[in-house]
Amino acid sequence: SPSDPDLVERARAAKEKLGSKVFVLGHHYQRDEVIQFADVTGDSFKLARDAAARPEAEYIVFCGVHFMAESADILTSDDQKVVLPDLAAGCSMADMATAEQVAECWDVLTEAGIAEQVVPVSYMNSSADIKAFTGKHGGTICTSSNAERALEWAFEQGEKVLFLPDQHLGRNTAVRDMGMSLEDCVVYNPHKPNGGLTADELRAAKMILWRGHCSVHGRFSLDSVNDVRERIPGVNVLVHPECKHEVVAAADYVGSTEYIIKALEAAPAGSKWAIGTELNLVRRLANRFAPEGKEIVFLDKTVCFCSTMNRIDLPHLVWALESLAEGNLVNRIEVDKETEAFAKLALERMLALP
Ligand code: 13P
Ligand code: SF4
Repeated sequence: SPSDPDLVERARAAKEKLGSKVFVLGHHYQRDEVIQFADVTGDSFKLARDAAARPEAEYIVFCGVHFMAESADILTSDDQKVVLPDLAAGCSMADMATAEQVAECWDVLTEAGIAEQVVPVSYMNSSADIKAFTGKHGGTICTSSNAERALEWAFEQGEKVLFLPDQHLGRNTAVRDMGMSLEDCVVYNPHKPNGGLTADELRAAKMILWRGHCSVHGRFSLDSVNDVRERIPGVNVLVHPECKHEVVAAADYVGSTEYIIKALEAAPAGSKWAIGTELNLVRRLANRFAPEGKEIVFLDKTVCFCSTMNRIDLPHLVWALESLAEGNLVNRIEVDKETEAFAKLALERMLALP
């Protein structure tokens, strides 16, 4: 739907008034009405690096979700202020691992006598607390674009990995990219005593996967893949690694949002694609590449937006920019010093991965 012209003009005017004091980052899952005001767009890895590379910007307005804004705060200097236009833009996956639950899990691993061999690898989609836990215990952060390199690094440091909080990214990377078997993976359920696992199961596992998932990508099923192959002969199925293992196993290509965009840029005219990721991005790509004769459809028949990403809409962006332009610092995301120090350690290990 076209954006309200009055709001577009207000956002433009506020941004112009702020000039180089403000830098707007936009994740690929953001609405078109918001993306048009982003100085850079990217996947979560690219945005983390871009935030860190803008020391001159006093305000970083993060159009994305809470964990991304926290990461930006961790990676920028203390006098730079990170603003999330709607504080309710969280991530249900990140919420599936709390600091208490993860501390309890570490006790379970200690009881089983394996904590010393375990290296935590946490997906970017986690709270600053979980990143700090990861840093404290010698682990690294990863994103969907570097999970394989992060796991390779982790297995050079120890014999086992505790992968938080997305079981699918962990399993897909271990099995699809690194040749491990499904039997090498166990799932730790924070709602069950001892994670629902025996000490023997924990000792035998190479990958201990936290029982978290993305509700948006979890909607795609093997049926969605089979249906689209039937409907569109010759279609290429390209999905995000947050999808379930059976979906990833049935797909032709798998990758982060940035990978998906590059794959479609390189695709020949006349090719057909079914994309398994968030709908704002898929629609934008379908519109962008239609003139080049590339047919791009959404993998599922139902719509699936990320409802929390969608909370950042043009009215919230206008409000945040106008407030900053008037000198009111609103919706600042600030991670406390101690958490920040350990979380930064984990994030810097990621940024240093080869
Ligand atoms: P990427 O942008 O790293 O592909 O992550 C997708 C996602 O779910 C972000 O919330
Ligand atoms: Fe979280 Fe999934 Fe939304 Fe990404 S798409 S922010 S992982 S709920």
